[in-house]
Amino acid sequence: MDVIVARHAGFCFGVERAVQMALQAIEDTEYPQPLCTLGQLIHNPLVVKSLEEKGIYWVQDVEELQNYSPGTLIIRSHGIAPQVLQVVQENGWTVLDATCPYVRYAQTCAALLHAEEYQVLIFGNDEHPEVQGILGHTQGKGYAVSSKAALEEITLKKKVGFLAQTTKQMATFAQMAHFLLKHTKELRIFNTICTVTGERQEDVRRISNMVDLMLVVGGKNSANTRNLVSVCQESGTKVYHIQCPDEIKPQWFINIDKAGIAAGASTPNWIIKEVEELMCEKSEEKKNENNELEEQQDQLQQEETLESVPNQENSEEQDVSDVETPESVSKNEEETGSEVPVEVKEPKEAETDTEQEQDTAEEPHPMEGEEALKYSQMLKSLRRGQIIKGKVVEVKEDGVFVDVGYKTEGFIPKRELEQGQGEDLSEDLQVGEEIYVSFLGMDDEGIARLSKRKADLEQAWETVRNAQKEDTTITGKATKVVKGGLVVDIGLRGFIPASHVAIEYVENLDQFVGQELEMKVLEVEKKNNNVVLSRKKVLEEQQAQMKEETLRNLQEDDVVHGKVTKIVDFGAFVDIGGIEGLLHISEMSWGRIEHPSKVLKEGEELDVKVLNIDQGGERISLGLKQILPDPWDTFISKYQVGDIVDGTITKTVSFGAFMEIENGIEGLIHISQLARRHVETPDEVVSAGQSVQAKVININEGERKVGLSLKEMEVEQQKQEVEKYETQQDEGNITIMDHMNKDDLDKFGIGDLNDN
Ligand code: F3S
Repeated sequence: MDVIVARHAGFCFGVERAVQMALQAIEDTEYPQPLCTLGQLIHNPLVVKSLEEKGIYWVQDVEELQNYSPGTLIIRSHGIAPQVLQVVQENGWTVLDATCPYVRYAQTCAALLHAEEYQVLIFGNDEHPEVQGILGHTQGKGYAVSSKAALEEITLKKKVGFLAQTTKQMATFAQMAHFLLKHTKELRIFNTICTVTGERQEDVRRISNMVDLMLVVGGKNSANTRNLVSVCQESGTKVYHIQCPDEIKPQWFINIDKAGIAAGASTPNWIIKEVEELMCEKSEEKKNENNELEEQQDQLQQEETLESVPNQENSEEQDVSDVETPESVSKNEEETGSEVPVEVKEPKEAETDTEQEQDTAEEPHPMEGEEALKYSQMLKSLRRGQIIKGKVVEVKEDGVFVDVGYKTEGFIPKRELEQGQGEDLSEDLQVGEEIYVSFLGMDDEGIARLSKRKADLEQAWETVRNAQKEDTTITGKATKVVKGGLVVDIGLRGFIPASHVAIEYVENLDQFVGQELEMKVLEVEKKNNNVVLSRKKVLEEQQAQMKEETLRNLQEDDVVHGKVTKIVDFGAFVDIGGIEGLLHISEMSWGRIEHPSKVLKEGEELDVKVLNIDQGGERISLGLKQILPDPWDTFISKYQVGDIVDGTITKTVSFGAFMEIENGIEGLIHISQLARRHVETPDEVVSAGQSVQAKVININEGERKVGLSLKEMEVEQQKQEVEKYETQQDEGNITIMDHMNKDDLDKFGIGDLNDN
């Protein structure tokens, strides 16, 4: 049985800190001054007992503290309510505060929310000391809610603050927060769930998906241990919650190939170690029992062989039931040619075996004398599980005969061929093909029992180990999505955590199932059947190589092809080959752009110009407008000073207004050119978005600036009006209207003209 121990098992930071502080207090406290904890320091009876032996006693509540003369009171990692602390101090006790900093944060959040008149809701169990302590920081005004259903029963106020007991599950907290978002006007959420708890639960979830049985070690009264049990149960794995090693029952491990150990935050390492050792011991005992049984069966078979010719019908193993006679084996040898070289790894000293010698004597070997003895001894030197090289000599329906040298043959039953072997074995294996096999032992007819599947598995482990050692990549096909990542077939079961599937976060991992992936090896633990892989590392390295290559060849003013990776308010990031450059909003278009998303989309491919390479290639500025036709050229060829242009006011500033004449060409109407009258602010005359006509009064080609005037336009219009008026007067069809006084004329500028 393989045993996997969770990486995050045992004391968490907060508990470890509390225990250390308590042990230090023993040294610092002078006898007979009492040393107590309010409640058990940690939820583990063995540790509590051991602390008692060292002189730290625990009391149920403040009342019980009265039984002692004042000494030092250790506040455990759960913390306490400020009201309780006050009573303790008033009673003359010195306080040693071992409240976990994460719990202290939750207390502070609760106090802050209460001070700002929020209705404080705490996702947690109101009987849990940590929750009681946090509630104390709301002057008892907060509520503990144990589930989403309980939350739905609460009458919510306008302002709600939400936090959690540190050991609660994030998924439920998120669901409850989601509910509150919909049902409150003003909500403040503090994620006070301890990251240690989350990591521990994730780890346990991952392992329980890999094993047949989980043992969760920790106090029955420990909330975080009970949560771990729930996590295991969610995965459907058989789970036992124990407090100490002697609760383990051997019958739990019947038919269990792989088991996991998880432990709550209050479980000391020595208990975990003891549990692991005990489980391994049980497993070893079981294995030995099996081996003994197998040896007894082998012996029985050999004895039967001495007495009679093997009876196929009575043969125990189906795979050797139709083993050929020694004569036909010799014939095969003649057909397949000379002896096949044998690769032997770690050969052992040959041992003599009287029964085997007798066995050999019964079955005439094609060799005689010393040579036969030599080969017989070499055969005996093979150990179970040793990998040897052989040559396929015959492919049958139920298995394959392989020449493994030693002047002998071995048989691989169909079930010991590789996984996924087709029905017709001859399609997968050819006579004469060289393969590696694992030696399982000799049968009673001198035929070696072999397994290709086990040899393949061994080779897969070796490949993985080498890949890790030499930091090379391996490939494998993603077979399924599990909680927390992808399972990959690399000749054995590999796992890619979700965070290592790609460089960026991938929401849906299903897209990878069935794909051949290239990966680096992060962790190999054969004992725990654990191989952790990373595709992200491969991608990062490829990206780094590509970046180096790109940078080597990149020059300013180059036009390169790229892909928009991200759009932000001030521009867009464009991947130009393993490296990202910034395309600033001002470099996207000759015209004014409201937002980069109006011009580009994420994933869009485009050509851009390299404007600047800075800080060894870490900052690359790109331009798009530089490779687009320059509207200034068109403008220059089309307009000259004195022309009247149509356009739109784009913005007003203190010194005037900007007007877009053509896409990418803006002119300035200076405040003095906005009207003939005095203008205090440009907004008195124009506003953004307004369509106007203006006169071009200046073109500065060098600085690409255009000066425009509305005042000149007015003069133009007035002149036209006067001309029209004079023409009409000449024709006698118009008279000056009486009600048009001087102010009206001024308004139209006619007065000024007359004055001139
Ligand atoms: Fe603290 Fe987290 Fe442990 S809150 S006590 S470090 S589980």
